[in-house]
Formats: sequence, structure tokens, C-alpha cells
Amino acid sequence: MSTEKRASFGGKLSAILVAAGSAIGLGSIWRFPYLAGENGGAAFLLVYLLCVLIIAIPVMLCEFAIGRKTHKNAVGGFRELSKPWQILGFNGILCALFISGYYYVIAGWSLDYLVNSINGSLYNSGIPFAEQYATFQASYWPIVYTIAFILLTHFIIARGVEKGIEKASNIMMPILFIILIFMAIRVAFMPGAAEGYRFFLTPDFKEAFSSDTLFQAAGQAFFSLSVGMGCMITYASYFNEKTNLIGTSLSVSLLTLFVATLAGLVIFPAVFSAGLQPTEGPSLIFITLPEIFKGMPLAPVWSAIFFILIALAALTSTISFHEVLTAYLSEEHKISRKVATYITTGITIVLSLVTLLVGFNIEIFGRTFTSTFDIYDFGSANILLPLGGFFTCIFVGWFMKPDFFKNEINNYGKLPVKILPILFILVRYVAPVIILYIFVKGLGII
Ligand code: TRP
Repeated sequence: MSTEKRASFGGKLSAILVAAGSAIGLGSIWRFPYLAGENGGAAFLLVYLLCVLIIAIPVMLCEFAIGRKTHKNAVGGFRELSKPWQILGFNGILCALFISGYYYVIAGWSLDYLVNSINGSLYNSGIPFAEQYATFQASYWPIVYTIAFILLTHFIIARGVEKGIEKASNIMMPILFIILIFMAIRVAFMPGAAEGYRFFLTPDFKEAFSSDTLFQAAGQAFFSLSVGMGCMITYASYFNEKTNLIGTSLSVSLLTLFVATLAGLVIFPAVFSAGLQPTEGPSLIFITLPEIFKGMPLAPVWSAIFFILIALAALTSTISFHEVLTAYLSEEHKISRKVATYITTGITIVLSLVTLLVGFNIEIFGRTFTSTFDIYDFGSANILLPLGGFFTCIFVGWFMKPDFFKNEINNYGKLPVKILPILFILVRYVAPVIILYIFVKGLGII
């Protein structure tokens, strides 16, 4: 075990902002709109909201309880409570590796769009945005920007937990909210926007409860709230005894939902207004957002500000899974934080390069995978996070004594929490049953 003193986050607001910094990122701004676009828009939004409430928040509370109680990383936290369950921590480490293998690539795209906004080429060339996106993908720039993003994350982590993460989150998140609200108002005035609102806000209930929409929405609930991987265990290990776990989890979830919903309210009116398809896939926001700025005065300036914010939101998320790996290596393998940070960065670069450079064509579970990008995305959000979430609920709800959850949630009686019995029922029965159902249906096992 490393003997370095563990850092801890400052006041109440910090715990919320730091956890929200991890949660809010490309998941809400990039992944949510493209999945909603592919899965019926409003139907997806509805099921996603339900999954956050019924599944993801209970899992987050369990992770908070484990992390704050043990003050350890994902693996060490489970091990301290029960040795065999440390395997769940390893599930989290594997998942952190998966996410590290593709998240930086998309973060890198946002850096490219930032640079091309600043130098004007995105708006001056007059080439359709879909074409510009394709040209960018075929160039070597994605490699350059991906590595730049990994190094940026490395630099912040290397400066230490409190200073780096806390300061970054405190400044960036509020600015992101304001700009998103501003953009949502702006797109309302674009011609044809109404069709976008209809798509995003009037659900088709049959589509909503189809097994595929449920499967994707549940995966997105885990992914967007950073739960199921022990990330919130690692973060909660830096909380203090006064942190209100329910308040923190509700605030983080609401903020994340707010950003995702706003992202939808920005993207879909613009998609329909520009005559694009909502089912565009991962490129959706990169060809839609420039359409919004195009017609505005000072387009490159607004565009640059927005891509800076996307990059920063991504950064507070990359920091969090980099931290999961770094904390694990330094605390479990008796190496200094500095070396652990380098090792994590090195592994991340290798994984990302494979994603960028290697292509194939395989079919698993009736889905086609053409690079490790697809495998990592599907494998993390749809397999490893739900598995981790399911077993975390089983662990806290059935294996640990009920007092464990209760004492952590109500701070050993200091915080009266009236809904505790309901939360415990969610953790014990509702969340695991629903996760299992969605998972087994979604994979076509039954
Ligand atoms: N939640 C982040 C996003 O939406 C991604 C993320 C960061 C994450 N840490 C995580 C996802 C841990 C799962 C687990 O962009």
C-alpha cells in the first residue's frame, strides 16, 4: 500500500461538482443525442429518465457508501468489505480500460473541431459539414488529437487530486450550463425546429419499451452517471463524513439529466432544420452543431467556445477514469502515484492507437463490430457497467448487513432520511431485477 496521504475534497459543493464533473461529459453531450436519434428520440428520453431513477441512482448510492466507508479505490474498497467481492473491483478496472480505449478518441474530435473553429477553416471552406467530418476521419489528425487529449489528462492528474480536479470542475461546469441554455434558445428560432421538438418530446410508447431501446437506455444511464465501474467508489473515497450521499447523488443525476436533455433540445431542432438525419450515429453532433453556428454572426467564436466546453466536460470525465486506474495501481501495487500515472497514460495511449488504427469485421450478439471502438463502447456501457451495477446492488443489498447502507446514507443517524426504506427496496429488489431483465432481453438470451 502506498504511504502517501489520501487527499480529500473540500466542502459540500465540491463533492457534488467533482462527481458531476465525472458524470457530465461526452456521455450526455455526444452519446445521448446519437443514441436518442437512433432509438426513437422521445421514447429513448423517457426510458432513459426511468433507468436513471430506478437503476442508476441506487447503484450510485451503493458505490458512494462503499467508497466513503472504506476510503479506498474500487478494488481495495470491495476487498476491505469482503475479499471475494474484490472481483467486482476488477470488473471496474477492466471497464475503465475499455472506456479509456475509445473515449479519448471522441474527446480528440472535439479538439480538432475547436482548432478548426479557431483557424476558421470549419466555416470558411464552404464544404458540407458531413464531408468535412469524413475528411477529418480519413486523416492522421484524429491520432494527434487523441494523444494530445491523453497527455492533457495526464498533466492534470499528475498535479494531484484536490488541486487539479476540484479547480477544473468548479469553473467549467457552470459555464457549460449557461452556453447550452443559450444555444437551446437560439435553435428554437431556426426554421423547421418544431419537427425536432416533436421527435425529441413526444414518445411512441411501443418503441420506448422495446427490448433494444431499454437495453440502450439502461446502458446510457450507467454510462452517463459513471456508475457500475467503481468510479464513484474511488471518488467517494475522497468524501468526508459529513458529505450527504443522497443529496450528492440526486444533484449529480439532475445536473446530468439537465445537460443531456438540453443537448437533445439543441441537437434535434437543428438536425431537422438542416435536413439531416437523427440516425446519423456517432458523427451526429459533429455535423449538426456547426449547422447551428453557421448562420450566426461570429460563428467561429461561438463554435470555438462551445467546443472548448465540450472538451472540458470530456476532460473532467477522462480525469475520473484515469484516476480509477491510477488509484488502483498506486494503492494496490505499492507504486508511487507518479509512476502509476505514467503507467495508466501509457496503457491508454496503446489502447487508443489500436482503436484508431485497427479495423475488422466481426459479429457478436447479432451486432457488427468494425473496430475496438465499437467493442469498447458496447462492452462497457452494455455489458460491464450493467454487470457491475447488478452485483454492486446484490453486494450492498444482500451480502452486507442492512445497517451498512443505512449508516452510510444517513451519516450514522446524523441526517434524518425518510426515504431510506424505499431506497433499500430499490437496491435490494427493484434495481437488480430490472437490470437483469433488461440485460438478458437485450442480449437476446431469453
Ligand atoms: N459519465 C461520463 C460521460 O458521460 C463517462 C465516464 C466517466 C464514465 N467516468 C466513468 C462512465 C465511469 C462509466 C464509468 O461522459
